[in-house]
Amino acid sequence: MTRIYFDHNATTPVAAEVADAMGAALHTVFGNPSSVHGHGQQAKTALDTARAAVAHLIGGEPTEVVFTSGGSESDNLAIRGVAESLVSSRRRHLVASAIEHEAVLQTLKALSKHGWTTTLVGVDESGVVPTDRLAEAVTEDTALVSIMHANNEIGTIQPLIELAAVAHDRGALFHTDAVQSVGKIPVDVTALGVDLLSLSGHKLNGPKGVGALWVRRGARLRAQMTGGKQERGRRAGTENVPAIAGFGVAADLAAAKVATPDPHVAALRDRLESGILSNVSGSQRNGDPRRRVGNTSNISFDGVEAESLLIALDLDGVAVSTGSACSSGTLEPSHVLRAMGFSPHRTQNSIRFSLGLGNTEAEVDRVLGLLPGIVARLRTVSGRRPRAGVAVHS
Ligand SMILES: Cc1ncc(COP(=O)(O)O)c(C=O)c1O
Repeated sequence: MTRIYFDHNATTPVAAEVADAMGAALHTVFGNPSSVHGHGQQAKTALDTARAAVAHLIGGEPTEVVFTSGGSESDNLAIRGVAESLVSSRRRHLVASAIEHEAVLQTLKALSKHGWTTTLVGVDESGVVPTDRLAEAVTEDTALVSIMHANNEIGTIQPLIELAAVAHDRGALFHTDAVQSVGKIPVDVTALGVDLLSLSGHKLNGPKGVGALWVRRGARLRAQMTGGKQERGRRAGTENVPAIAGFGVAADLAAAKVATPDPHVAALRDRLESGILSNVSGSQRNGDPRRRVGNTSNISFDGVEAESLLIALDLDGVAVSTGSACSSGTLEPSHVLRAMGFSPHRTQNSIRFSLGLGNTEAEVDRVLGLLPGIVARLRTVSGRRPRAGVAVHS
């Protein structure tokens, strides 16, 4: 059975050029980048090359790039680093949207137990953070606002320029988790007006366990990993040179991709989505179709539990994902769909299809061929039918 991978928002396959660069670095660049001798300088050059590539991808300066272990660490470093740098000021309030990744939500939750107040701003029914709602939440005491660029479950892109302006009006810094937008759409830190931006290697055909936090020059940030002076004192620890070298090559490939957009992935996503909406009764699209990344489609299947659909598709060799998580036997609803105001059932019946490198029209057509039968079978088993009225496709 040939396997179909429609879960690129979870992780992506490593590009061949990236694997080659990592292999070469592993074989030939073993020096410690902090060493002054030739071996060390060779490793430092590999870091410098990757740093320049990552900076170029997001329109920043190489000195503003801090390499981390990935998106989660970048989010932690941004929020904790800014919060702690302002610990003795009156700015002890943190704001994020209700649809952030857990790396942001749990970090705010942790800080709320240590004297910071936190506010989560809701979204509208299409998953967008309204600027006026953010304006109500941000005060003169706000240290940092953290709002993601593109959402991992529904792909919705936030109006960052306007949202960052709201934060700056009150003197707060603005961080964005751009893990799901970098490499999919053009991202320019200056045009967006953000102060800190997180990205991750494995979401853009690079390796896992490596990422970066871009920190605007002059923004204060307290290191969370202490020890050596690596990364200009912002993140201690000998750098993962082969992974960073691979991340640099992935950044170069991503920069070339977004500079000359290839409509292939978006066309496949649209073919898949319109095929599902017209052939599977009781299916509905989630999120704003006009402002989202081109690879993501999130669809509710009325009368079906997402987890069962995911498993059935997997048995047929198709990898997709759900925003709801099965923990200790109960299905946790998707916090993103819940924040959008959806019914409890709709927060548990939604599947994310996220396409990317290597996907083909034949794969889309195979999934379109499989889905109506699987959904009908699951509805028969559960005894549930699509609700009247939901058969109308949005
Ligand atoms: C929006 C978002 N932020 C952060 C992360 C975490 O990134 P990493 O897996 O590199 O820690 C992810 C990964 O799923 C993500 O989708």
